[in-house]
Amino acid sequence: MILITGATGNVGGQVAAGLADLEPRRLSRSASGPGAVAGDLTDLELMEKALDGVDRVFLLWPMAPAPLAEPLVDLLSRRVERVVFLSTLTIAAGLDDDITRTHAELERMIDESGLARTFIRASGFATNLLWEAHAIKSGVVRKPFGAAGRSLVHEHDLGAVAAQALRDDAYAGTELVVTGPEAVTQRRQIELIAEATGRPIRWEELSQDAAHAEMVGAGWDPTMAADLLDYYGSLVEAPEPVTSTVADVTGVPARSFRQWAQDHADAFR
Ligand SMILES: NC(=O)c1ccc[n+]([C@@H]2O[C@H](COP(=O)([O-])OP(=O)(O)OC[C@H]3O[C@@H](n4cnc5c(N)ncnc54)[C@H](OP(=O)(O)O)[C@@H]3O)[C@@H](O)[C@H]2O)c1
Repeated sequence: MILITGATGNVGGQVAAGLADLEPRRLSRSASGPGAVAGDLTDLELMEKALDGVDRVFLLWPMAPAPLAEPLVDLLSRRVERVVFLSTLTIAAGLDDDITRTHAELERMIDESGLARTFIRASGFATNLLWEAHAIKSGVVRKPFGAAGRSLVHEHDLGAVAAQALRDDAYAGTELVVTGPEAVTQRRQIELIAEATGRPIRWEELSQDAAHAEMVGAGWDPTMAADLLDYYGSLVEAPEPVTSTVADVTGVPARSFRQWAQDHADAFR
């Protein structure tokens, strides 16, 4: 039996779809329907019940801080044979923001627990653009570093790679760096969404200083905002890496950002 955490989310939903023939158990706080089990990753009593009869787990850790995950990782190490953990590529890029640190800490905990594991180190999700749907719908996107190249990944491909890693024991002990098929600049991403929706969207280049001031005004820690902006700035000269992992693991080429924009056009209309 496979347990999928975050099963109502972008990636977990795709993992569940990819494993539908195995009738996996689907966990989240609000899960409902066939195979659903309501559980909270921080509630060990509920997690113990959810793990009954389970041997493999798709794990994500959608909240900080990392130390809260320690009892869960300990429980998993005693109860299941294998874990596929959704992590981030920025670990390899050496980024030191909260999200990267949390995932690095989870990877360390899982390794120290002795669990057989696969780490899915994902590039940025194309679904992050959905957070900007309001601005995109307004027809104007104001952001810095339009020329920054990002290898955003389609949630379908993340789900397909994770599903295969759960099916095949050969992926135990591996780190799979999963990206989209090419680096697409931020400005081009908006053009492709405009094409998919059939509506014009204007890119307005924001200076790094103006973007920093806006982020701090919105509650960001000044240093974290500066670090993130420096990272985006670095992608103008050196775009994010592209790997062939999706094709290698699933036998099907990774879906393009153009495809993603077409799949989600309604969200931007
Ligand atoms: N965005 C990126 O660019 C990026 C890149 C690399 C890695 N990641 C990682 O990917 C993960 C997010 O994946 P996603 O986009 O699929 O997330 P998502 O769409 O936001 O879904 C999150 C899922 O987790 C469940 N969940 C949240 N808190 C929970 C809790 N305390 N207990 C049990 N279930 C809980 C949610 O359902 P309920 O609310 O019903 O519980 C939902 O099913 C995060 O761990 C993130 O750090 C993201």
